[in-house]
Amino acid sequence: MKITYQGQSRHYRTVWFDPARNRVRLIEQRLLPHKFKIVSTADFRDTALAITDMIVRGAGAIGATAAYGLAQGARAFRGRGLKAFERHLAKVYRTLAEARPTAVDPVSAMRGVLSKMTDDTVAERQEQALAAAEQFANDDVAHCEALGQHGEPLIHNGSRVLTHCNAGWLAFVDVGSATAPMYAAQAKRKSFHVYCDETRPRSQGAILTAWELAQQGISHDIIADNAAGHLMQRGEIDIVIVGSDRTLGRTGEVANKIGTYTKAVLAKRHSIPFYVAIPLSTIDWELESGQAIPIEERNEDEVLSAWGVTPSGRRQKVRLANPGSKARNPAFDVTPPELITGIITPLGIFKPRQLWKHRVKLGHTTSGC
Ligand code: MRU
Repeated sequence: MKITYQGQSRHYRTVWFDPARNRVRLIEQRLLPHKFKIVSTADFRDTALAITDMIVRGAGAIGATAAYGLAQGARAFRGRGLKAFERHLAKVYRTLAEARPTAVDPVSAMRGVLSKMTDDTVAERQEQALAAAEQFANDDVAHCEALGQHGEPLIHNGSRVLTHCNAGWLAFVDVGSATAPMYAAQAKRKSFHVYCDETRPRSQGAILTAWELAQQGISHDIIADNAAGHLMQRGEIDIVIVGSDRTLGRTGEVANKIGTYTKAVLAKRHSIPFYVAIPLSTIDWELESGQAIPIEERNEDEVLSAWGVTPSGRRQKVRLANPGSKARNPAFDVTPPELITGIITPLGIFKPRQLWKHRVKLGHTTSGC
């Protein structure tokens, strides 16, 4: 996406690779929208830490980061023989897969990379790893563009769209999932308005989605997480579009940022269509129940405090909550298929329970990749 910062406009992806220095390069998302900075990770452990600490976040973006991290780890191998290389790769894979547990994209991405590392020598496999990681990143962009084309007709002139968290281009390599239909509608000169849920505790909606939409010149307002029901009741929201960190191909259940389920319940109550936009790497064909999705519990500090900038521009954390009180911080929830109108994919819009029927078309392979 084209970013304008301090008067300069340039196209950026959220994540890319520097082959000469064997480094993953990332937009430092924790500093947005107040500061635009690019960081590099020195090795695969550093890359995993960037995912855990949410320098990079969002399912597609952490998928591509994990794919590049795997290639980075593979290319750093200096030992001898394929056996030792494979042992090393297994460690790299584990470290990156454990960085954040709920999104399935990192696992989908790394399995894809591993499946392409088939040549006879370590050097050849190192090259194949990077080529496959680049392929994942490029596919992510193509998938988001395609799902945008399928979702675009859902947005009409005058539509008021609600979205939750950030499922925009910052959450992917480019374009985004929930925002892709919006960008496609904008390209068709449709006029519409977006409500961005604030999305406490980390406020990705207020910080990242609002910044993205402002960069793209799309009309929007940030609303407090608790305001959506009121706006729905007054007829001020026409459609909800969100992303997903893991969508179960067998059941149609959707894991996404905490608070998504609440919005889906409210949308059902008010007969407002509720759509989930995903690239194919977000579909988990293995798990048989949403109860089995690992839900990340993050540090209570995120709920008890908030980050902001002072009038002088210094980034600062302040305590919000009662001193001494503790908090729970589940980062994701699971929305059941009966609350979802449709899943927008790069291959069209499906009812959540129809994903399994269309599994071959949607990329399910028996190897589970
Ligand atoms: O904790 P985050 O910021 O990584 O969570 C991101 C979300 O929940 C997005 O809505 C999600 O990744 C879907 S779009 C990639």
